[in-house]
Amino acid sequence: MKLLDNYGRVIKDLRISVTPRCNLHCLYCHPLGLEMAEPPGTLTVEEVDHFLEAASLLGLSAVRFTGGEPLVRKELPQMIERARSKEGIEDVAITTNGLLFAKRAKELVQAGLNRVNISLDAITPEVFTRITRGGKVERVLQAIETALELGLHPVKLNAVVIRGMNEEEVAPLASLSLDRPLHMRYIEYMHLDNSDPEEYRRRFVSGKEIRARIEAVFGPLEPVPHDPTSPARVFRIPGAQGTLGFINPVTEPFCSNCSRLRLTSDKKLRPCLLTDLEMDISWAFAAEEPVEALVDAILIATNRKPAFGNTLPTLRKRVMLGIGG
Ligand code: GTP
Ligand code: 5AD
Repeated sequence: MKLLDNYGRVIKDLRISVTPRCNLHCLYCHPLGLEMAEPPGTLTVEEVDHFLEAASLLGLSAVRFTGGEPLVRKELPQMIERARSKEGIEDVAITTNGLLFAKRAKELVQAGLNRVNISLDAITPEVFTRITRGGKVERVLQAIETALELGLHPVKLNAVVIRGMNEEEVAPLASLSLDRPLHMRYIEYMHLDNSDPEEYRRRFVSGKEIRARIEAVFGPLEPVPHDPTSPARVFRIPGAQGTLGFINPVTEPFCSNCSRLRLTSDKKLRPCLLTDLEMDISWAFAAEEPVEALVDAILIATNRKPAFGNTLPTLRKRVMLGIGG
């Protein structure tokens, strides 16, 4: 079966944020002073299982676990295992900052993890440490090596580009795609953190500028065919083993191809990343027949997916940290 929204889009990708906690405090994502203990009421393995069962009945085929940082949840392998056990769910992935990945990779792969996207905003150690407020880039590079060794292809890397922070890193990061099958993606900075709009405008770097910075060093990029429901437009430095992707939600919104639903760790269904509407579905998890109730909840959320994500209020309920990207 196929789940369709009111605009004929096929909903097939589920993003589940398993915790609001993160072991990094990146300048643009994680304000200091946020609570680090697991808040009461965070999704349990059992609840994730019920939700996945409902999603599988509705024909969803891909699940991505996010956070916060998903690897700070010790039960992540059990969640991955449950996801892989559901009929029709073929692609189980995580988006991680990589710090705990090398340590936990074997148990994740044993649980059935198919893929990993690793955030890497800079390759120069001092720049990385500044953005992440103390993180060590070597740990992330080690995570990337581990993912390649374990054959978790394709290994995608994500960099959000922010002026005055890491725009000089764009070309050095592109070099990672030259000799190995690494897929570097550049993400336009979205205004999700309640910061001053003027400051946001000063910080914003368009995908076009990012590409020009890369082409100034490596010459013209060649286009690569790609999945239209993935947000990235994909290119290659001629002769490179890996690719370069541009995720341009601000200058080239991809809402018409959106195939996603998001579940937050505090049990809210979010039909659209860029619209603040969230549905509290605690009632469905607590129902006598939770799977049936969750099927209803998913159908309601799907009907509420907007045509375009453009209704963010000035004061947002959550920063990206709580939504999981
Ligand atoms: P793949 O299936 O591997 O392509 O995953 P992905 O790119 O969807 O997942 P990932 O978590 O790596 O997402 C990278 C970034 O793309 C996110 O952090 C967001 O910045 C952006 N993004 C992902 N989904 C959406 C979306 O639905 N809307 C918008 N505007 N941006 C999104
Ligand atoms: N704009 C774009 N991407 C963001 N991320 C976090 N905050 C933002 C933002 N304001 C990205 C992280 C990570 C993913 C989970 O979300 O860098 O790659």
